Amino acid sequence: MNLKTKNLFFLGKGGVGKSTSSALTSIYLSDAGKKVLLVSMDPAHNQSDIFNIQFTEKPVKVKENLAVKEVDIDYWIDKYLSDVHFQIKRSYSYLTAFNLENYFDIIKYSPGIEEYALLLAYKEIRKKFTDKDLIIFDMPPTALTLKFLGLPKLSLLWLQKLQELRNKIIEKRKIITKVKVGSKEIERDKILNKLEQQIEDYRNVEAVFEDKEKTSLNIVLNPDKLSFSESKLIVDRLDSFNLSADNLIINKYGDGFDVSEIEKNFSYNNLQIFPQSDTPLLGLSSLESYLRTLDSFTIS
Ligand SMILES: Nc1ncnc2c1ncn2[C@@H]1O[C@H](COP(=O)(O)OP(=O)(O)O)[C@@H](O)[C@H]1O
Ligand SMILES: [Mg+2]
Repeated sequence: MNLKTKNLFFLGKGGVGKSTSSALTSIYLSDAGKKVLLVSMDPAHNQSDIFNIQFTEKPVKVKENLAVKEVDIDYWIDKYLSDVHFQIKRSYSYLTAFNLENYFDIIKYSPGIEEYALLLAYKEIRKKFTDKDLIIFDMPPTALTLKFLGLPKLSLLWLQKLQELRNKIIEKRKIITKVKVGSKEIERDKILNKLEQQIEDYRNVEAVFEDKEKTSLNIVLNPDKLSFSESKLIVDRLDSFNLSADNLIINKYGDGFDVSEIEKNFSYNNLQIFPQSDTPLLGLSSLESYLRTLDSFTIS
């Protein structure tokens, strides 16, 4: 894993400009010499429209230092489920009698699978693109994004409980195995090992999310009431995961908006303003010319 790669996440209400702001940031920072991968995590996949290029899972180079890829959520859901399937089959071979395949067809549509699939995609991307300085994630709508960011903490709560339970079972079994042959012992350890492995895995992700050198959370909002209140909700929820906003981005800014309203209501490290554009922000060259009109660019 590349220790220097930094992940920038763009979050916010639908339509505030997450995709546009993450595209602008990708272009600006790749022009500044950083090797950037822009990843579209939102199944709506607006980056293809913004750049007017049909992106896929395989990154496409759009200019020097900048490549863009999409995350195909259905592919990652299938991958997540087949990983789980494989592990269950290996650890609990007796369960095959229940014909697990039938259950997995239904589980695919169950709530909660998407965030596991996104987290799996995220981990693979981090592992794979170690040559990048920055990986910029254009995130899905708020509810899914918050589940994704909270998943390591939540999973750790569960796994630690399971670990306690497993240890209790082992304690009880020890008395039995004294008189029994040790064949069961291998299975018992396998499960505890698996739990410990998963705990370590989630701890690593949690540590990356909490490390300001490795993760930057960018909240995009518009100067209007609805996006204000959703942004506050985001900030509160992030706080409950022990995370905080790094950059606050006021997009579609217009004269007459009082920035001190933001200062009163939010805590953040840095404020970036993207004014409302008169021309559509579509296509690489219009994004580049928009960037040239900005007074300052402070996201890094
Ligand atoms: N600064 C801006 N000025 C003008 N139009 C913008 C600006 N930012 C975004 N838009 C437009 O607003 C719409 C929503 O932006 P988008 O980036 O797709 O939002 P999100 O990804 O948050 O849903 C798009 O039509 C986009 O072109
Ligand atoms: Mg979008």
